[in-house]
Amino acid sequence: MIIVGVDGSVASRAAVEWAAGDAVRKRVPLRIVHAVDTSWYQVGRRPDAAPPGTLLREGRRALREAEALVRERQPSVEVTTLEVEGEPAVVLREQAEDAVELVVGSRGLGGFSGALLGSVSVHVAGHFRCPVVVVRAERRPAHGEVVAGVDDSPECEPALAYAFEQAELRGAALRVLHAWRLPVHAFAPEAAYDLAEVRASQHRLVSDRVKALSHDYPQVIVIEDVQCALPAEALTAAAERADLLVVGSHGRGALGSALLGSVSRGVLHHASCPVAVVCA
Ligand SMILES: Nc1ncnc2c1ncn2[C@@H]1O[C@H](COP(=O)(O)OP(=O)(O)O)[C@@H](O)[C@H]1O
Ligand SMILES: [Mg+2]
Repeated sequence: MIIVGVDGSVASRAAVEWAAGDAVRKRVPLRIVHAVDTSWYQVGRRPDAAPPGTLLREGRRALREAEALVRERQPSVEVTTLEVEGEPAVVLREQAEDAVELVVGSRGLGGFSGALLGSVSVHVAGHFRCPVVVVRAERRPAHGEVVAGVDDSPECEPALAYAFEQAELRGAALRVLHAWRLPVHAFAPEAAYDLAEVRASQHRLVSDRVKALSHDYPQVIVIEDVQCALPAEALTAAAERADLLVVGSHGRGALGSALLGSVSRGVLHHASCPVAVVCA
């Protein structure tokens, strides 16, 4: 089952469309979830907050609209709706417990207008067991390419596997992008750095990762893309020509940390295509 969180915003509608498309590709049912957050009202923190009855009604309307959108775009999808009282991120975590993926919009109804990423999206991406896909409101043409970001940590393997699966389901090519930087000390004159050897090892790293998975996905055409660049910048640039960008939740840098890795955070904010964050 695929779970999609809705709040009636434009981005959450885009998330519903993306989720419905993926439900068709994966041949799984879709559940549309709306969390009714009445905590503000209960603790009286927001005297101007709408009363719970209004929130429940608005939530039901958002669910009805989302369901109608699925029936119109993907009539073959088995779709259900669910309204639950609670904090959105908590409700979505419970609902996504056994899901194949959770889909949310990059923005919601709240937040401030300049924000690139909403608070719910920040709290769910990279923090759930299942992959979390964050979808932007803007419509974009299909490009026939999935991009996966890989680093030199084993943590990126589940992300690469998810990217292979998505590429196969879509009949798309898979660009496996590894961006690397020379350590600063490499520029010191006394550092005898064999640049050719460093480059070769970066390429090897990518080919080894690809080889480990391409047996399972023989139909997928893989483009190995090794760049001497900043990872978040290289991935954001590649996202321009991609239908989906897949990253791991943590890289080398944030090992063992509860926080989302800096590259994942960077692309969630700046990539123009949907971004899937996959936990190790
Ligand atoms: N109450 C909710 N119930 C279910 N999903 C929600 C809810 N609020 C937000 N979402 C999901 O999270 C996405 C991002 O919204 P959010 O992070 O709240 O942004 P903002 O801070 O701009 O309101 C939405 O597009 C929607 O997919
Ligand atoms: Mg919100």
